[in-house]
Amino acid sequence: MAGSWFETVAEAERRARRRLPPSVYSALVAGSEKGLTVADNVAAFGELGFAPHVAGLAEKRDQAVTVMGQPISLPVLLSPTGVQAVHPDAEVAVARAAAARGTAVGLSSFASKPIEEVVAANPQTFFQVYWSGTREHMAARLERARRAGAVGLIATLDWSFANGRDWGSPRIPERLDLATMLRFAPEVLRRPRWLASFVRARRLPELTVPNMALPGEPAPSFFGAYREWMQTPPPTWDDVAWLAGQWGGPFMVKGVVRVDDATRAADAGASAISVSNHGGNNLDGTPAAIRALPAVADAVGDRVEVLLDGGVRRGSDVVKALALGARAVMIGRAYLWGLAANGQAGVENVLDLLRGGIDSALLALGRASVSELCPDDVVVPPGFARALGLP
Ligand SMILES: Cc1cc2nc3c(=O)[nH]c(=O)nc-3n(C[C@H](O)[C@H](O)[C@H](O)COP(=O)(O)O)c2cc1C
Repeated sequence: MAGSWFETVAEAERRARRRLPPSVYSALVAGSEKGLTVADNVAAFGELGFAPHVAGLAEKRDQAVTVMGQPISLPVLLSPTGVQAVHPDAEVAVARAAAARGTAVGLSSFASKPIEEVVAANPQTFFQVYWSGTREHMAARLERARRAGAVGLIATLDWSFANGRDWGSPRIPERLDLATMLRFAPEVLRRPRWLASFVRARRLPELTVPNMALPGEPAPSFFGAYREWMQTPPPTWDDVAWLAGQWGGPFMVKGVVRVDDATRAADAGASAISVSNHGGNNLDGTPAAIRALPAVADAVGDRVEVLLDGGVRRGSDVVKALALGARAVMIGRAYLWGLAANGQAGVENVLDLLRGGIDSALLALGRASVSELCPDDVVVPPGFARALGLP
């Protein structure tokens, strides 16, 4: 659409805010409690500086990396998010955008689209699970993901069912019956473009989570699946090792901030970890992921692929994370805002902005490849890092 290109992720966020009904926008803002962690994720990147060169710079710069066996064209993957209702094509549009830009996508088990459709849109799909239900339930979901062609598994382990946000939580309906539609009508009618996108697609926002369905059963509602997860005893490290063995392929543990946990994840069979605090949506007061990264990368970087997610909003953030030890980063809100602002093209727009920003930082730093980035490229203020859980 002409005129729909945006020049920064901040602008995508502004457009998402204008376009989405307030309840849907506030589901993307997410965060928890006082919002300390969600704010620190972004602020911490701003505390890091660069040490650029002026001549002898690289004429050509390479961003390609391999993550969990998947060659990708830039060191940015799309992190799994339960998108729901942002856009009629939801995770399928996100997967198409990632494929168009040569990168991989994580599909949340709380996503609104079936994994088969998402893998068809992007064969570089990692399926993400929470520890929910019995081992038999977990095995059945893994088997479905494997049959669908998922090329890796992400186990997200950082969730403590925190609830309550000082700025208020979104109202997410259990189902879309007439009473619900009437209740949401006033805010939806004030967002005609969002409404029109669903009318054009002849669809209602999906409130079921098809990838949580058990064989032969219908897709549960979001809250039905959430209740099952809440009632499941949290996993032990043996359960994590079981999951890795059951999957038997590339396996990421997402949500690690401590060195001791990173070591245990590697011992349990993880091939990758993402240093992450769930985008600040989990235990508020957890430090920014980028502060926890250097110690974790030092400790296990030679055993597992270390990624980072949380607070990435520009290409220079990606470069800072790579300089401090990450192999690649994953993004969440940035692409959700792009999706809300302009569908698949909006997600591509976000990836293009990040690619451009990475290239510009590589040029200034005199690096010909993202693999050359090192701590010497960044200015780290005293007291910046948090080495958590050192032995
Ligand atoms: C609205 C929303 C929904 C999310 N849903 C999931 C999810 O279903 N599974 C998961 O592993 N992480 C989920 N996350 C966390 C993201 O994968 C990622 O860790 C986080 O968004 C990174 O921070 P950023 O948004 O600052 O980039 C969600 C995040 C947001 C904002």
